Amino acid sequence: MRTPIIAGNWKMHKNVGESLETARQLEERVKDSSVEVVICAPFTSLAALSALGLSKVKLGAQNMYFQDQGAFTGEISAGMLLDVGCEYVVLGHSERRQIFQEDDELVNKKVVKALETGLKPILCVGETLEERRAGQTEDVVVSQTKRGLAGVAADQLANVVIAYEPVWAIGTGENCDAEDANQVIGRIRGTLAELYGSELAEQVRIQYGGSVKPGNIKEFMEQPEIDGALVGGASLDADSFTAIVQY
Ligand code: PGA
Repeated sequence: MRTPIIAGNWKMHKNVGESLETARQLEERVKDSSVEVVICAPFTSLAALSALGLSKVKLGAQNMYFQDQGAFTGEISAGMLLDVGCEYVVLGHSERRQIFQEDDELVNKKVVKALETGLKPILCVGETLEERRAGQTEDVVVSQTKRGLAGVAADQLANVVIAYEPVWAIGTGENCDAEDANQVIGRIRGTLAELYGSELAEQVRIQYGGSVKPGNIKEFMEQPEIDGALVGGASLDADSFTAIVQY
């Protein structure tokens, strides 16, 4: 059985004080949940969140660079994230791919480095509206999955989380139909089975992301292939994120 994982992606929201307040409220409200709960906070809040000593709510970052250290102005390494208490790191989010021109090759280098350093990557894949309309959804996510995981060893796979996030569903209020998402995620799992065998593929948690809200989370979690959610906007408020965790 895969333990469901629900992660909040706060994006470029919340200063340190706001982060601490939301995290404290969340920790108190979700402590009895059987779901794994993660908040992916801005870099500037991570050390303070770590110092809170949360036990239920785990920490993640939203990006990192693949080098250990050096002259990379503005970048943050995997080791730095471990040092401030991160267990997870979101990689290849569509906003990174679209706004900051990250391609599969760069995302892959980050995934490999995260795993080597002891961080668990949440690898995001998903098609644009144009690609969906052209019937390319499965080709796109299969290709992003394969390229994103190039060089990842079989014994590292269980530490990988994949988030299927259709780009057109992110921040639009227009979520993917749960059965459609289940089908695409089944295809991603099939790809993992081709690469690593079905036994290992069955261990990987694959989330859905894109306009997840308290009112639609249950439909997604009822699908057999969907193991959780990556939540943007609705994770910013402790009440709505709690309602999602307690679907
Ligand atoms: P959203 O964002 O929940 O606000 O649609 C999801 C994401 O970007 O991970």
